[in-house]
Amino acid sequence: MRRGYLFLFVVISALQLLSAGDSPVVHHVQGFVGGSAHLFCVLERTYDVLKKVNGLYFQKTARDGTETFINGFYTREVKVLPEYKNRTIINKEDLSMEMSELSLADEGEYTCIPFVSGEPRNQTKFHLTVTANYSVPIITVQGCGSGPASHNCVIECSSSGGFPLSNVTWSAVGNEMSSLLRDEGEPVFMQDNRSHLWNVSHTVTLNCSQELKITCSVGGVMSPAVTVCLPARTRDMIVPIIACAVLLLVSIAISVIVICTRCRRTQTSAEHSTDAELVYLK
Ligand SMILES: *[C@@H]1O[C@H](CO)[C@@H](O)[C@H](O)[C@H]1NC(C)=O
Ligand SMILES: *[C@@H]1O[C@H](CO)[C@@H](O)[C@H](O)[C@H]1NC(C)=O
Ligand SMILES: *[C@@H]1O[C@H](CO)[C@@H](O)[C@H](O)[C@H]1NC(C)=O
Ligand SMILES: *[C@@H]1O[C@H](CO)[C@@H](O)[C@H](O)[C@H]1NC(C)=O
Ligand SMILES: *[C@@H]1O[C@H](CO)[C@@H](O)[C@H](O)[C@H]1NC(C)=O
Ligand SMILES: *[C@@H]1O[C@H](CO)[C@@H](O)[C@H](O)[C@H]1NC(C)=O
Ligand SMILES: *[C@@H]1O[C@H](CO)[C@@H](O)[C@H](O)[C@H]1NC(C)=O
Repeated sequence: MRRGYLFLFVVISALQLLSAGDSPVVHHVQGFVGGSAHLFCVLERTYDVLKKVNGLYFQKTARDGTETFINGFYTREVKVLPEYKNRTIINKEDLSMEMSELSLADEGEYTCIPFVSGEPRNQTKFHLTVTANYSVPIITVQGCGSGPASHNCVIECSSSGGFPLSNVTWSAVGNEMSSLLRDEGEPVFMQDNRSHLWNVSHTVTLNCSQELKITCSVGGVMSPAVTVCLPARTRDMIVPIIACAVLLLVSIAISVIVICTRCRRTQTSAEHSTDAELVYLK
């Protein structure tokens, strides 16, 4: 019996907690570093209510619970912190705030408090998440082993300027990546001191005994497919092919020079004979 009462008490308290806040719904808003976010207050948009709105406050709640006024309006002038002054715009018509030049520090909880006839009403809670897209990852071949290990190549994937932290995911077109990995290595994470954005790189060693088309992705951004591990035969062939090409070019050049000089000589002799003919005619 006691337990039943206790249960009811808990349920009722929970309900009271829910109704204590004007709106228990938290609106999730997503923004990008350097971009902007638009926070719209939820309020009955009847003419009757809207004409009585005479104030609007946007505030941020820090992790420790302290509230910071961001921007808004009221019957008297409201002072805006310099860090928000140039990058927040209050729209009195649609009761919203636009915040631009977002940084990771802007992530957090925000509240909009409209004042209807001077009374704070219907708060709206927001959770702003700020992320940054990683750059398109770049795959580079660092080198291949020599001797019997020549089929093992060291390949790096790197991407920069993203948030949150992300691992590197490799894949090989038409192959199981895990069966190609000779050494998986460890990803290297570097965080920028000021922006707190991450650079990520990951170096692996692959079994390069066959030509492979690989991609890597970081934070959902995929690199273009890169063909690596040219078959050993092709790799060995490259030097002779280049040598042949150079030889061919050189011989063509020589032939052209020879032909040209011959042309000129014939021309000069032709001119000479004309001169001789003219002399003769004279
Ligand atoms: C705003 O609050 C009033 C009472 O405080 C309530 O009647 C009304 O439904 C609320 N409107 C919205 C949009 O939450
Ligand atoms: C805000 O903009 C004004 C004028 O453009 C400028 O003088 C001021 O330094 C800016 N403040 C901040 C904190 O960027
Ligand atoms: C980040 O990537 C997502 C998904 O590809 C895209 O919708 C969004 O516009 C990108 N944001 C920026 C700032 O480039
Ligand atoms: C990256 O992968 C490792 C090992 O699988 C895992 O422990 C770690 O949580 C991952 N990190 C992220 C940011 O996904
Ligand atoms: C991250 O990568 C960018 C571009 O490659 C580079 O300019 C920057 O210095 C790197 N930052 C860190 C902390 O390594
Ligand atoms: C990051 O900043 C701190 C001081 O703010 C400095 O001591 C440290 O050397 C910096 N690290 C890098 C990688 O620039
Ligand atoms: C490398 O891959 C080939 C098939 O592509 C396989 O025959 C060979 O055994 C592999 N070598 C090693 C050392 O795993």
